[in-house]
Amino acid sequence: VLRFRALMIWLHGCFPPSPHTASLAHSRPSRRGGDVRASSVTSCGNHIKSSCRLIAFNADSADVVTDLDFSPFDPLLLATSSADRTVKVWHLPESGQDLPSCPGVTLGPEGCQVDALQFHPTAAGVLVSGAGRVAKIWDVAQQKALTALDPHGDLIQSVAWKQDGAFLGTSCKVSLGDMVGPMVIAVSPLLFQSIQGHENNKDSRLLWMNASDYILSVGFSQVREREVKLWDTRKFSSSLISFVLDTSSGGSAFRSRHGLELHLCSPLVTQCLTEGKSKGAALVPKLALDVMSCEVLRVLQLTDGFIVPISYTVPRKEFHEDLFPDSSGPVPASSAQGWWAGDNKQVEKVSLNPARRPRQPLPSCLMPRAQREELAPPDTEQPNTRPGAANRSVSAEPSRVGGTLLVWALGWGKPLTPSLLSPPGPSSKFRHTLGTLLPRSTHITNLKGLNLTTPGESDGFCANQHRVAIPLLSAGGQVAILELSKPGRLPDTAVPTIENGTPIADLCWDPFDPQRLAIAGEDAKIRLWRIPPGGLQETLLEPNAVLRGHTEKIYSIRFHPLAADILTSSSYDMSVRIWDLQAGREALCLRGHRDQIFSLAWSPDGRKLATVSKDGRVRIYTPRRSPEPEQEGPGPEGGRGARLVWVCGGHHLLVSGFDSRSERQLYLYDAAALTAGPLSVLSLDVAPSTLIPFYDQDTSVVFLTGKGDTRVFVYELIPEAPFFLECNSFMSSDPHKGFLFLPKTECDVREVEFARAVRLRQSSIEPVAFRVPRIKKEFFQDDIYPPTAVCWEPALPATAWLVGSDGQHRKLSLQPKDMTPVSAAPQDVPLRKFVPASHYLEEKSDEQKKEELLSAMVAKLGNRDDPLPQDSFEGVDEAEWVGLRRG
Ligand SMILES: *[C@@H]1O[C@H](CO)[C@@H](O)[C@H](O)[C@H]1NC(C)=O
Ligand SMILES: *[C@@H]1O[C@H](CO)[C@@H](O)[C@H](O)[C@H]1NC(C)=O
Ligand SMILES: *[C@@H]1O[C@H](CO)[C@@H](O)[C@H](O)[C@H]1NC(C)=O
Repeated sequence: VLRFRALMIWLHGCFPPSPHTASLAHSRPSRRGGDVRASSVTSCGNHIKSSCRLIAFNADSADVVTDLDFSPFDPLLLATSSADRTVKVWHLPESGQDLPSCPGVTLGPEGCQVDALQFHPTAAGVLVSGAGRVAKIWDVAQQKALTALDPHGDLIQSVAWKQDGAFLGTSCKVSLGDMVGPMVIAVSPLLFQSIQGHENNKDSRLLWMNASDYILSVGFSQVREREVKLWDTRKFSSSLISFVLDTSSGGSAFRSRHGLELHLCSPLVTQCLTEGKSKGAALVPKLALDVMSCEVLRVLQLTDGFIVPISYTVPRKEFHEDLFPDSSGPVPASSAQGWWAGDNKQVEKVSLNPARRPRQPLPSCLMPRAQREELAPPDTEQPNTRPGAANRSVSAEPSRVGGTLLVWALGWGKPLTPSLLSPPGPSSKFRHTLGTLLPRSTHITNLKGLNLTTPGESDGFCANQHRVAIPLLSAGGQVAILELSKPGRLPDTAVPTIENGTPIADLCWDPFDPQRLAIAGEDAKIRLWRIPPGGLQETLLEPNAVLRGHTEKIYSIRFHPLAADILTSSSYDMSVRIWDLQAGREALCLRGHRDQIFSLAWSPDGRKLATVSKDGRVRIYTPRRSPEPEQEGPGPEGGRGARLVWVCGGHHLLVSGFDSRSERQLYLYDAAALTAGPLSVLSLDVAPSTLIPFYDQDTSVVFLTGKGDTRVFVYELIPEAPFFLECNSFMSSDPHKGFLFLPKTECDVREVEFARAVRLRQSSIEPVAFRVPRIKKEFFQDDIYPPTAVCWEPALPATAWLVGSDGQHRKLSLQPKDMTPVSAAPQDVPLRKFVPASHYLEEKSDEQKKEELLSAMVAKLGNRDDPLPQDSFEGVDEAEWVGLRRG
């Protein structure tokens, strides 16, 4: 039996906590035989819990202590469940010091690992545990099970008592048999009903809505999107509300930043930006809140290195009865035996008003009001400080961006003001960016037989302002060419294609000739094809030209951004070659790679070429000067794939890749100092596909999404800390197979659209517009539209570039003739006042509030074709607007 640090206990408010931390021990489970199901479930339980006095959290990997809970009636009584198949109940000392080395009570052993537990809300010393397919209700004092509930078809993932203590909800894996979760069990008399809740087995949680008959479940849909459903347990046949939060493929860590306030008909999702990756979150009991400061909610977020208290306060002073309804008191309503015999007495409520609180043992040591202290637990490794990683700024700088927390604020009936909603530091004027799927009439539908398993180095398809090219399923490497100007349903019959003759490795359009397509084949050759004006009318069998030189399969190809007829390719033969298409031959060959070349990118001035490789290096070449890299620096550690793009006027390089734990990360380099390593590293999430970046030079906004993702991350990049300014992501309800951006001229500036993309789905192509909500859209928003580079015209011919000349694109204003720039708008334009949060609390009718909540929800959860006018209210606040006009 190994003894080790399993749980740590802290006192609320007594920080730094080092003298009071201690550990409790469960034994590491025996792995002999097939009896321990440790690997069958990645702990579904909570990793952090709080009583009025203590915080307990899982400081170890989740496979030993699976869940924990404090008694609602004794802030020093803690129950833990474990992979060692037992539940242990601990009497913790008042001070938190000198923790007991053995539990007061051990329940079990059960047939397998115990995954979930919860204390009963009304009866003293009753708890439910979920182990395998069996939920047991225990009388802790008697150390015996009152009953075992085993109608579950598969492993239990979550248990939840209704607040009145009469019902128990459980959720279990979806099994092949009849019984599926979630399930509601009326404990006395023992009855149960069940329904299929979520289609994916991954994980599910249940939560009762205060004392009502509604139950909320969080789980995953068939396509692994996290979804939330609300059920009326009296009509347990279908969910009342169901919606998708986002996709998250990462373990048990919560990765959403949505808070959710549930009104029975109008959910409001508020974002809470938090730092670091959440491993868990716990609500602090009502009785421990700082009610005099109108703190209505406090969440403790557990991350790799910190516990971060997040307070939600309403901007008022003094105690307000309406914000703090009476709350369940600390005295149990019945004994375990009494409750089991049918006593349904409810816990007496107590006032939270300090003036009227009964004399009772209440927490003496409240957490101070400071809202964002970060408390580094002793002996816990600091996050993101990996040895050898040069100057990764993440742990030191609160980056606000890797945010991850699920906050459920239930039952107040009024929106809360998360105090962290306006974090300090710079914010982007693109933060309210709204990605909008354009109407169905603009889609191309009924696509068939697409090859969606293109290699990781390829974007999967390619698009220019006129047309897209998409590889099809076929041995001969067929490519469909579709005209964007001809939306609608494709005929059921086969469309004309390009017959490349060999499977496609990568493909791209010539930026200076929208009819020329380059296709790299798995046969080491690059073929150039010419599409007739107006689109492909008949199948093309013969390429215009074939480039031969590589000796092995090609990874990717890229055209030069300034010089006509210059194409670059990288290959399994470890070379990068630069081709003169006019001469039809190889012009330059670059060396120095020792492994797979994930991505290559030309600097915006066309002088340098950067690559990122599986050998863990980022390189910059000056191809006309030397075939060897001019600079090298450490790249992403994970070998799954990477991309790179030049940003901030060519002074920085942005690399997207994976760390050694397969987490998706962004690395920002100073392009003049690669050896120093990244200036900043940002962790995003865990997902299998490489994030493909698109950078808009005019706004310095980068869009990132992977093949198979549902989310497009958006950041404005600035050349100094914090480097990444987070903007609203675009979410779609189902995964895209590809996502590419079109030239700037495709943007509708009257709608303040600053980027236009096309997304590829299983059988359709759909345009997506990224817009900035602005109030005075009749003015041309010249702060967003500087003169744009005419990147669709070459700046010089190949021959000139090859002998050392450089060029520059001419610039073009996007301002329509009939629009006035907003910087020249008359000063007396009436300003729309920024609506303070208190406005919501005090001045609106219920009907108004409902309406706003609903539209806020819809705006957050879906992207509609026509945003409601109120959406644009949040576009620019007054200060920004004024600043804009002054500037
Ligand atoms: C890291 O950055 C700091 C300040 O930005 C600098 O003083 C230090 O030399 C850097 N260290 C490395 C290893 O680059
Ligand atoms: C449940 O919440 C509603 C308001 O959301 C409140 O009126 C009611 O009193 C709550 N019930 C209990 C038992 O707390
Ligand atoms: C899909 O494309 C890849 C290369 O891009 C190729 O290896 C594969 O064979 C293609 N699949 C089919 C079924 O054509």
